Amino acid sequence: MKIVVAYSGGLDTSVLLKWLKEKYNAEIIAYCADVGQADELDGLEEKALTTGASKYYLGDLKEDFARDYIFPMIQAGAIYEGRYLLGTSIARPCIAKGMLEVALKEGADAIAHGATGKGNDQVRFELSAASLAPNVKCIAPWRDASFREEFPGRAEMIAYAESHGIPIKASMKKPYSMDRNLLHISFEAGMLEDPWYDATTEADREMYVLSVSPEEAPDAPEYVEILFDKGNAVGIKHDNLAALITELGDVKVEGTKDGYTLLTPYGVMRVLNLLGGRNGVGRVDIVENRFVGMKSRGVYETPGGTILLAAHRDLEALTVDREAMFIRDGLIPKYAQLVYNGFWFAPEREAIQALVTETQKTVSGEVRVKLYKGNVMNAGRKSPHSLYSEAVATMEGGQEAAYNQDDATGFIALNALRLKASARQVK
Ligand code: ARG
Ligand code: SIN
Repeated sequence: MKIVVAYSGGLDTSVLLKWLKEKYNAEIIAYCADVGQADELDGLEEKALTTGASKYYLGDLKEDFARDYIFPMIQAGAIYEGRYLLGTSIARPCIAKGMLEVALKEGADAIAHGATGKGNDQVRFELSAASLAPNVKCIAPWRDASFREEFPGRAEMIAYAESHGIPIKASMKKPYSMDRNLLHISFEAGMLEDPWYDATTEADREMYVLSVSPEEAPDAPEYVEILFDKGNAVGIKHDNLAALITELGDVKVEGTKDGYTLLTPYGVMRVLNLLGGRNGVGRVDIVENRFVGMKSRGVYETPGGTILLAAHRDLEALTVDREAMFIRDGLIPKYAQLVYNGFWFAPEREAIQALVTETQKTVSGEVRVKLYKGNVMNAGRKSPHSLYSEAVATMEGGQEAAYNQDDATGFIALNALRLKASARQVK
């Protein structure tokens, strides 16, 4: 038997790897997906091999994640339960796809992941796998009673690692669970399980990684301009962009256009994360409904995604027809639920995406955004495809050709007809 294991080099997935190898007497291939979690990846191969893997793969999915997952989701305007930008949800199908490509290439029988039996992530992994490789089995050790019995806590895992020659770093475990990628960081569990626990107070500044609190943010606003092409952010204009790009270190410049620096989707996310984070943008604290039925409390940092979602909508407002937008907006809760619940590769998500793509044909242009103490404010938008007409909208007189106010009389009368009938109806 051959198993591809989702591996991060941490205690949990290291123990998982070894345990699977022993339980199934299997050949283990370790797969680490890089979706921008900024973990130390150096030395991971050696660690995986020492722990018992026969092979190690690093999937550099950062650019794919931004281009094929985050951007289409921004185009759809996705937001779950009115708050959550789906940072973890959208990474799972991307990681699953990377893993399954390796599984198929290696002729593996199964993939294994370290998600618990109580959460959403297990569902997302396994539904993605079902769509992409229906013949590959999924193994979830946390749903195996013998695994749970053997590892009731962290102490047992450390003991197991020590007795099995698994190299572990003596790092203090955070009193909450974190999941980081290019789009966000999520914080759950531990003290956050109490929904009355205030995660905005002084004491919790320690927890946040990507953003400062609005209180700590600069007293002067910061402006950024974003260039969109068919619903995708392709360029950024900012007073200090060259220095920011140097600071980030891994952002490629693709060219320039009309004063904008053209960037890849990954580069756009990196720059906007930095700008949003230092202005306190994108913190969310919610109680959400997990697919498996329970309510759970989550705290998120999504600085760049928050800017992008707002700027994109501002450009749509200028360039997309009212009724087309109305239909797309009506599908947002459904689309977000599909992403949250793990149905990224399902036919219904693809069908909605096709409709979304159709609405994005005219979403090209520029948006100016002002970032200030946790807020993302629009500071201008323009587009060659603008549907907005000052001549029609103006409150000034003398524009009768563009909009004849007399026409409104009949318009209102016909719309009123059925309301009057209803008002007079015998009830
Ligand atoms: N509640 C969020 C979601 O379901 C975040 C999950 C975090 N996952 C994790 N393995 N820490 O999308
Ligand atoms: C987990 O249970 O593995 C993490 C939380 C989630 O998937 O919702």
